[in-house]
Amino acid sequence: MSNSVERFVDPGLPEHVHRKADFDERAAKRAERQVAILFLLSAASTVLTIYSYIFISPKSEIFLPLFGNQQVNNLGIGLGLAGALFFIGMGAIHWAKTLMDDTEVVAERHEFRSSDEDRAEFVSTIKERAGTAQLGRRSLIKRSLGVALGLVGLSPLVLLRDLGPLPKKQLETTDWAKGTYLVSDPQGRRIKASDLEVGAVAQVLPELPEGTERTLENIGKDAVLLIRIRPEEFNLDAERLSWTHEGIIAFSKICSHMGCAVALYEQQTKHLLCPCHQSTFDVTRAAKVIFGPAARPLPQLAITVDSEGYLVAQQGFTEPVGPSFWERNSA
Ligand code: FES
Repeated sequence: MSNSVERFVDPGLPEHVHRKADFDERAAKRAERQVAILFLLSAASTVLTIYSYIFISPKSEIFLPLFGNQQVNNLGIGLGLAGALFFIGMGAIHWAKTLMDDTEVVAERHEFRSSDEDRAEFVSTIKERAGTAQLGRRSLIKRSLGVALGLVGLSPLVLLRDLGPLPKKQLETTDWAKGTYLVSDPQGRRIKASDLEVGAVAQVLPELPEGTERTLENIGKDAVLLIRIRPEEFNLDAERLSWTHEGIIAFSKICSHMGCAVALYEQQTKHLLCPCHQSTFDVTRAAKVIFGPAARPLPQLAITVDSEGYLVAQQGFTEPVGPSFWERNSA
């Protein structure tokens, strides 16, 4: 390999333009100060992180529009860490762009291909070793070795079984079924349509048969958001409209993107918002995705009322709840 390093000359590129800081000492000093300020901002952000962690009580909260009440110390830690990394990165980039040496050089690279002599020698060595191992003559050994190696490669596939059921299958089954009562969370009280005012939103769960224990996994899969709007505000086809009751509509609470809890409801716009990656679902159009990475609407639960006016499910979910990133054709 040649170690020669020379000025890079490429007739296809425009003439190299030197930066002001390369020949103007005042510009260089200014750039130096800017880099230092960015690094100091990073240091200050780290101090904010440490201060928030040690001195701000986890009980102190602040109200943020869209996000509701948030812990101040968590905010400080998050902003501090973000600032520390951001400013140190910006400082390094600014330093490299304004002050570091910008001479373009070319270093010769040796050829990767082996010489013809080396390649010929390698082939003859392989043939010679294969001959001494009698692979050519012992076809039984050759075939059985092929079978053994092939099966060894299959064994990791068998172990995949221990990873549990496929996520899609797991999410296909919830505790919702025809006639299941909607109950408040966590009180477990049956709900009437009159319990919900127009504009209200509530999290509900399916009433489980007597003696059945509610597990955390079930709560995650079963959680449903109940929202009431004025019936005339719906923009649904006849079937989906028949799944609502007097302006009350129910959707799975698990985001169809990556499974976060869809927790924010904007009463004005009638949008549900997932806080993880900002997928936004339009309640009036059966939770159609109007923004963000989610690939499909939140599954709608068909509801109605029993003879006493309590809300019940007409049937279970008609599609898997939760993430659908493994479903290539979901749209
Ligand atoms: S998990 Fe909801 S948008 Fe990503």
